[in-house]
Amino acid sequence: MAGGAVSKRRSRCSRLAARNRAVAMSERNRSIDGVSVPCFLYGTAWKEDDTQRLTELAIRQGFRGIDTANQRRHYVEAGVGQAVAGSIRSGLVTRDDLFLQTKFTFRDGQDHRLPYDPKAPIAVQVEQSFASSLQHLGVETIDSYVLHGPSRRTGLAAADWEAWRAMEALHASGRARLLGISNVSLEQLERLCQEARVAPRFVQNRCYATRGWDRRIREFCVAHGIVYQGFSLLTANQATMAHPAMVRIAARHRRSVSQIVFRFALDVGMVALTGTTNAEHMRTDLEAFDFQLEPEEVAQIESLAGP
Ligand SMILES: NC(=O)c1ccc[n+]([C@@H]2O[C@H](COP(=O)([O-])OP(=O)(O)OC[C@H]3O[C@@H](n4cnc5c(N)ncnc54)[C@H](OP(=O)(O)O)[C@@H]3O)[C@@H](O)[C@H]2O)c1
Repeated sequence: MAGGAVSKRRSRCSRLAARNRAVAMSERNRSIDGVSVPCFLYGTAWKEDDTQRLTELAIRQGFRGIDTANQRRHYVEAGVGQAVAGSIRSGLVTRDDLFLQTKFTFRDGQDHRLPYDPKAPIAVQVEQSFASSLQHLGVETIDSYVLHGPSRRTGLAAADWEAWRAMEALHASGRARLLGISNVSLEQLERLCQEARVAPRFVQNRCYATRGWDRRIREFCVAHGIVYQGFSLLTANQATMAHPAMVRIAARHRRSVSQIVFRFALDVGMVALTGTTNAEHMRTDLEAFDFQLEPEEVAQIESLAGP
């Protein structure tokens, strides 16, 4: 790409960052179709037997948004439900204080512990998985219901449409308040938005600094009223986190590089996910709400590792 085009694009992104910064900085939650969505979510993957304890700890430390999936291979959704019930029972929170997000996962992403009959039509699998999620989580509605990923790498197959139509029916029934899609390419997202009757309100993707922090998909999301959720913000970006510019910015603010990454994510309008198992990290991650980056710093981080 010519230098002029690159700098034009960067300055457009800086303006976008500045605009989003005003939104993100205003509060810890944003309202989407009347649903209060925390800008920082606690992710419950890979917690196994510690899921209940860690989720309860995260709620005690101040997280109000929880991400899980009805996919026993990587998540223990029932453990999340026990944590939610325990936190409500102890008076720490009410159901309305919490934003609960879970996912439908196709057969290929599951192990043998399936939350549905694999021989049933996909629409029935979605219904069964959703009913099982309600049971695991001990709730009557899910705040955000996410398709864990399309069934293939490119395009959208009949199975994807069948799953999405079933999710739209759950939305129409009022049991799933918002819909989302994860692990999605720009091309797949464009197709989904063209033909969906209920548009996705969330995209949840692994966010690589080397791809401009998923810049092209984030731009599409902004243009289409979709909120981008970034995961593996730390684990996917170790080299960028060690970059001297990141270290300098962290030192300037007397913060850790992890806090800079999370603050940056909020500044460019993402909902950030953290998967920490450490009480101190939970606390310091949430401190990303307590300081500000300069617009030039946001622009610099945005272009540090990729176009
Ligand atoms: N949709 C999908 O397909 C998908 C895929 C992957 C993840 N996710 C979601 O995203 C969540 C987060 O993903 P992730 O675990 O890859 O994210 P992450 O937050 O980038 O990684 C967490 C890892 O970083 C370490 N870490 C070091 N310092 C940390 C700090 N200050 N704050 C947080 N972590 C720190 C953690 O160790 P300590 O435990 O010692 O802090 C842990 O090993 C998952 O739990 C899941 O809910 C979704």
